[in-house]
Amino acid sequence: MKHLKNRINLLLEPLKNIKIYFLRDILKNLFYLFYNRFLIQFSPSSRRHKLVGNPLNWKLFRDFQLKFLINQGLKPQDQFLEIGCGTLRGGIPVIKFLNEGNYFGYDVRKNVIKEARKEVKKNKIKYKNPTLIYISGVNKLSLNIRPNLIWAFLVLIHMEDQNLEDTFKFVSNNLEKDGVFLASVNLGIREKLGGNWYGFPVQKRPLNFYKEIGKKYNLKVKSLGPLKNFSEVISFSSIKQMLEIRLSEK
Ligand SMILES: C[S@@+](CC[C@H](N)C(=O)[O-])C[C@H]1O[C@@H](n2cnc3c(N)ncnc32)[C@H](O)[C@@H]1O
Repeated sequence: MKHLKNRINLLLEPLKNIKIYFLRDILKNLFYLFYNRFLIQFSPSSRRHKLVGNPLNWKLFRDFQLKFLINQGLKPQDQFLEIGCGTLRGGIPVIKFLNEGNYFGYDVRKNVIKEARKEVKKNKIKYKNPTLIYISGVNKLSLNIRPNLIWAFLVLIHMEDQNLEDTFKFVSNNLEKDGVFLASVNLGIREKLGGNWYGFPVQKRPLNFYKEIGKKYNLKVKSLGPLKNFSEVISFSSIKQMLEIRLSEK
């Protein structure tokens, strides 16, 4: 009899787990729904940064970017260009860190640049004099400085191949001689990952793809490894990696 009871308990074990996971998922989804439909209205920051990603995580993504850049040697005197700066989710603490006038950011969406300007005002850092530019493509961008650090976080993944090439060309023509371009990408066999994001594709490409475009524009491309190696708090998937791109020596 005892034997039989043990056997039944053993059979029920996975069912118990399914029940718990199932309930947990339902509760989680209900919470997301409640947050996205209702609570989010009460958080202007979440509403703003929803334009560039998950509104629940914007602060983690903000903190990650500054920490990563400082670890890579960001200095207040750097001339910093952010490609795809969005709503300044990552840009605000960088602007605070940099010397006055040293931050330049552009995006191809007018509404996010509008929100970025509001974000500067809200954070009372207009005196830092960041330059925020809306342009429809990088080939229209002309800067009166030569950046020594160019940053593109979760941006190349949303570019079609031609935009990517134009961006590499711009970097090659504008990066300061000893400067660096740091850009996150999805690495792996080439594929477009499910659907689109605000009308942009979501791309996964092999490292060699970036190296080949780099070669074409006199840029040396290497991977610094998965983003998850640089964060204890955000569980990035292992395909998300950081590229370090420098001018090749001639
Ligand atoms: C996932 S969001 C990241 C925004 C910002 N880097 C951050 O981490 O908060 C991607 C941004 O890239 C911008 N973007 C997409 N294609 C672009 C392109 N070809 N050039 C510049 N920005 C682009 C989008 O408008 C969007 O604001």
